[in-house]
Amino acid sequence: MIDGVEMRGVTVDDAAGLAGALARNRAYMAPYEPRRPEEFYTEAGQRERIGALLADRDGGRLLPFVLVAGDTPVGAINLGSIALGPFRSGGVGYWVDRAWAGKGLATAALREVCRIARDEVGLHRIEAGTLVDNVASQRVLAKVGFERFGLAPRYLHIDGAWRDHRLFQLLLHDNPPDGV
Ligand SMILES: CC(C)(COP(=O)(O)OP(=O)(O)OC[C@H]1O[C@@H](n2cnc3c(N)ncnc32)[C@H](O)[C@@H]1OP(=O)(O)O)[C@@H](O)C(=O)NCCC(=O)NCCS
Repeated sequence: MIDGVEMRGVTVDDAAGLAGALARNRAYMAPYEPRRPEEFYTEAGQRERIGALLADRDGGRLLPFVLVAGDTPVGAINLGSIALGPFRSGGVGYWVDRAWAGKGLATAALREVCRIARDEVGLHRIEAGTLVDNVASQRVLAKVGFERFGLAPRYLHIDGAWRDHRLFQLLLHDNPPDGV
């Protein structure tokens, strides 16, 4: 990770800090995010959301991480949609506080999540989707080695409309699934 920032698993104790960071960055992130209800920006709303993330983690479907400077969340990255069997695939999503942008934080966090996906979860690939004009996120993916493989029309409901996304993947290794 970059100097002064740690990446660790999210906990319910992050709820107040995450609510503050998401509220501070609300206008900045709006073009890249689904529309959120007001409670999303409150400690109680984040407590409930983190509870759902941790239930998905316990079910083996998600690894949710927070990026913290001291005790203050400055970003987050989730490895979700984890599928095993012959697919062994996951999907990644991330954001970084505007005040910390351009310091290499998303790139470092994505590299670490890819390492965990390969070495600890044993995934074969990771997928990511970005808005067509999200050049910062596309640059992050390119720096980590992701390749563009498609364009999904009206893929996600972002900022009030179904929007086209560019799809990227990183192949992590070519080992067969366990036990085969
Ligand atoms: C995308 C995002 C996570 C990047 O975080 P970050 O910590 O600033 O990323 P990094 O510093 O690791 O790398 C950013 C790269 O994009 C480049 N970049 C940033 N804005 C850019 C722009 N408008 N045009 C071209 N390149 C741009 C930076 O120069 C840097 O590349 P470089 O290292 O070659 O100079 C952050 O901007 C963000 O949270 N955006 C809003 C939410 C979002 O888009 N999430 C991803 C959804 S797919």
